Amino acid sequence: MGVKPLRGIKFLLKEEELGFFPSWERIFGRMSHLYFEIGVGNGEFIVEMAEKIKEANFVGVEVSKEVLRKALSRVEEHALSNVRLIHMEGTKALAKLFKTESLEGVFLNFPDPWPKKKHRKKRIVNQGFLYLLSNRLRINGFFQMATDHSEYAEETVELLKGIESFSPLWKEYLITEKEDFFPTKYARKWLSQGKRIYFIGVKKVKKIDLPEWVKEWCPLLKIREEEIALPIVNIFKGRPKLIFSELIKALKRSILYKSENYFIKILDTFYNEEALLLDLLVEEGIIKQRFFVKISPYAKEDYILTPYESGKPDPTEGVHLAMVLLLKKLKEAFQEFELKKSTCKEKFLRYL
Ligand SMILES: C[S@@+](CC[C@H](N)C(=O)[O-])C[C@H]1O[C@@H](n2cnc3c(N)ncnc32)[C@H](O)[C@@H]1O
Repeated sequence: MGVKPLRGIKFLLKEEELGFFPSWERIFGRMSHLYFEIGVGNGEFIVEMAEKIKEANFVGVEVSKEVLRKALSRVEEHALSNVRLIHMEGTKALAKLFKTESLEGVFLNFPDPWPKKKHRKKRIVNQGFLYLLSNRLRINGFFQMATDHSEYAEETVELLKGIESFSPLWKEYLITEKEDFFPTKYARKWLSQGKRIYFIGVKKVKKIDLPEWVKEWCPLLKIREEEIALPIVNIFKGRPKLIFSELIKALKRSILYKSENYFIKILDTFYNEEALLLDLLVEEGIIKQRFFVKISPYAKEDYILTPYESGKPDPTEGVHLAMVLLLKKLKEAFQEFELKKSTCKEKFLRYL
């Protein structure tokens, strides 16, 4: 097996290092209009756009590492200092990487159509996505989508019409002829099969508040700015001394909580003499997080319960709830238990 060259690595940003709302000005070394492409594929489109508008900055995300490698290689070939790519899911990127009213334009070329009815909810475009998009666009900022799938196109237009911040970018919401159209790999594929391409375009003309249900749908949107950097830490006193081989019985693989909004599960438990590590799954809305939680001695009779350093979760409400549920289990496991410090949300701690 030949060794594959790794090209364009300097154009790649890491999701875990970016955190929330990175400074694009610092990353690109300049303040400029910011454009975002979801599902860059082999990178043809973002490269074409970045060549064309050199004075603007372009960020692209792609979920397939294999495909992203091709895009990185292409960006390097063209030596484009105004492009950065990330291995990241599009909706999550929209929520985490860009502040309200920060984007000039968002492109979505040939999103996976998930044609089977039972798979429709996997489509990236839905009402929540469009509200979030509208929030991230600046006034006069635009959204452009191309698809070969007529039903997906029509459904998107209907959803767009229902959001009052948008108006059509061209004379109609949907057009099938577009002069300045750049044929990406998938565009060429569908055109060679004689298929029609649908272009959808809207402009943000009005600010609107994000409806509350959108924040439930994407819980990252509920995290307040001051909570982002706050570590999730719980310190408690427990007596008699913890024996991890005993505690594992109370914290074994099981569903901790299941409701309409949350699914929280201990997937696995590991321990040695010094610590107990839980492999935790927290699902809420479209966000799924899997991370380790560590329980270890802190000082004297005190213990600490906190997400394990690597792969720290985003501090969503579900994560706060999960930590409090674990505290509850710990409380039951000790004869004497006293919570000394907690950065978890008061509304959950109340039930401890
Ligand atoms: C049909 S291809 C289109 C690629 C490219 N835009 C083009 O026009 O040639 C869809 C691409 O989007 C990526 N993708 C699918 N869902 C995604 C998501 N939620 N976030 C980011 N990328 C996604 C896929 O891995 C794939 O590369």
